[in-house]
Amino acid sequence: MSPTIRPRRLRAGEAVRRAVREVRVHPAELVLPLFVREGLSEPVAIGSMPGVVQHSLDSLREAAVEAAEAGVGGVMLFGVPEHRDATGSGATDPDGILNVATRKLAEEVGDVIVVQTDLCLDEFTDHGHCGVLDDRGRVDNDATLERYDDMALAQAEAGSGLIGMSGMMDGQIASAREALDTHGHSDVPLLAYSAKYASVFYGPFREAVDSQLQGDRRTYQMDPANRREGMRETLLDIDEGADIVMVKPALPYLDVLADVAAESIVPVWAYQVSGEYAMIEAAAANGWIDRQRAIAESITAIRRAGADAVLTYYATEYARTLKETR
Ligand code: PBG
Repeated sequence: MSPTIRPRRLRAGEAVRRAVREVRVHPAELVLPLFVREGLSEPVAIGSMPGVVQHSLDSLREAAVEAAEAGVGGVMLFGVPEHRDATGSGATDPDGILNVATRKLAEEVGDVIVVQTDLCLDEFTDHGHCGVLDDRGRVDNDATLERYDDMALAQAEAGSGLIGMSGMMDGQIASAREALDTHGHSDVPLLAYSAKYASVFYGPFREAVDSQLQGDRRTYQMDPANRREGMRETLLDIDEGADIVMVKPALPYLDVLADVAAESIVPVWAYQVSGEYAMIEAAAANGWIDRQRAIAESITAIRRAGADAVLTYYATEYARTLKETR
């Protein structure tokens, strides 16, 4: 038998493959997460994330400038404070490391790339949870919203160009939106980590921020088994006024991402998290996979599933290779 329909015709050479490619990644669709640690004069390596560091304020600035030069769309800042307490007061202190770093980068590169901030208490609390605890040690949703509101104001005042709400408290988008609007910051957009799962793939991140967490986040982050609920969380966040929604982690949750992309009326982002990065690095270091191709394929797959942009520790490196091949 001789087939008349031959899909291989469009795969015969790089020119035709390039011409029919359905998805391509642009540097502006990449966001680089960056860690800045209080009191550092030199950057410190993160063992479980080879190539990623905890930055000093100076090295942070250099990394942001490099990202901007590579054409990435933005940077997402995470602060690692020197001192922690029960309410995470470093998060709302204008002189706290995250707010200081935001002010600095917003001035330096804020016109070229979007300087974004992670809004969550886990880096700042001595118990490592994303919220404040009640007298029985449970994460208190509504008391946490008040802390988030104050944190949103501190970040907006520091010049954040996009506030990433990653704490998974009920009502956090509506609450932060109202706080911002009533204090003259109605122009600051909110990125909702909408479908955020209680994932083992955040493991290396815990080292990156010196997390104090005992136990887990399963009373507020989602159960990995739940697909439908990812849509529920997303629709709630859009109703509450989210400007962008996000699915996290990325590669193990492409079904959720595809669902969200099909329904969302706002931009959809996805986060290739620390454990996804660590898996690629570990396999590549052993010579088990081709590192460059694994980076390209994983990010392309996340875009193909429906993400308009991808948070990835590879943002600057991958943006550079995209520039070279264009
Ligand atoms: C919360 C936050 C986390 C990550 C991003 N924001 C940690 C968590 O929810 O436990 C994880 C990102 C990654 O693993 O790369 N501040």
